[in-house]
Amino acid sequence: MIRIGMLTSGGDCQALNAAMRGVAKGLFNAGKEVELFGFLDGYKGLIYGKYKMLSPSDFSGILTKGGTMLGSSRMPFKNMRDPDENGLDKVEAMKHNYYKLSLDCLVILGGNGTHKTANLLREEGLNVVTLPKTIDNDLWGTDMTFGFQSAVDIATQCIDQIHTTAASHGRVFIVEVMGHKVGYLTLNAGMAGGADIILIPEIPYDINKIIKAIQKRSERGSKFTILAVAEGAISKEVAALSKKEYKKYMADYKYPSVSYEIADKIKEKSGMEVRVTVPGHTQRGGSPNSYDRVFASRLGAEASKLILKGEYGYMVGYQNREVVKVPLADVAGKLKMVDPDSTIIKEAKMLGISFGD
Ligand code: F6P
Repeated sequence: MIRIGMLTSGGDCQALNAAMRGVAKGLFNAGKEVELFGFLDGYKGLIYGKYKMLSPSDFSGILTKGGTMLGSSRMPFKNMRDPDENGLDKVEAMKHNYYKLSLDCLVILGGNGTHKTANLLREEGLNVVTLPKTIDNDLWGTDMTFGFQSAVDIATQCIDQIHTTAASHGRVFIVEVMGHKVGYLTLNAGMAGGADIILIPEIPYDINKIIKAIQKRSERGSKFTILAVAEGAISKEVAALSKKEYKKYMADYKYPSVSYEIADKIKEKSGMEVRVTVPGHTQRGGSPNSYDRVFASRLGAEASKLILKGEYGYMVGYQNREVVKVPLADVAGKLKMVDPDSTIIKEAKMLGISFGD
């Protein structure tokens, strides 16, 4: 008999259910007796002992469903060591529930913050196997996270739809793409959607270069321009601020997001009409695309293999087109960012895309 606990933590994304189904099918089909506990709403469920027993039928019909059947929540790693409002030691509570249920392993699906806590639990002596989820694709140790490709499709579709109206009106359009502090989602959706200017956090922009790129297009007869702007995009001036200066800058910041600031500056400096579209959480919603269904299922199945072999303390990742196991200790606390000198950036520039640098 093996007893496994499973939870999904942090912002949701497409294919979480597909990944859990992959793990469960891999375990149930191995011919062993399995007891599967699904902790509700991320680490909260593990802390407060809220879970449901999962049987094979719970994994039927969920391959294509978005969201997570277990629910999720954000529990910042930096507060994990702080007692809750009733003085409960959260880390001790998680360990207590793990041992109380005599679990052999925890399967944790999450992004960066989730992996820091997963590694903490490993350090505390629990058996942990993790799976890399996030639309941001910013998890170190894996070339790809599930949810990413589905989100790229949605952001691309948004840019596609903006194209026709931008062309009719001869306007400048900004589509703000999620991705937190990294630009993978914006870079890929921007290229797929044929954006003329792509702004990502890894390449701080100069507003004058952006305006020049728009004017160059006008001179060549293009009436409209589309910018794909990462929510974390940053100007060269702001990138040069010290931590303290940046804090002050943000405290006085008057825009809802960076796209509105860029829009204002383009209007002010060029007199052009600018509109902003923010697809926001639609990028995380709905069914996983076919890539993510296959990808998450594969990672899930491989996670079940590790569990059956008793190999714990790993994230199941993807490197050079192979599914691999990556030590959790190596993954936790590292951010994967777009390399400004990578070939994809060079190729995008060859296509005439401006990065505002
Ligand atoms: O990490 C996924 C993500 O969607 C980011 O792209 C975004 O910055 C953030 O989560 C939004 O978080 P929340 O759903 O908590 O508003």
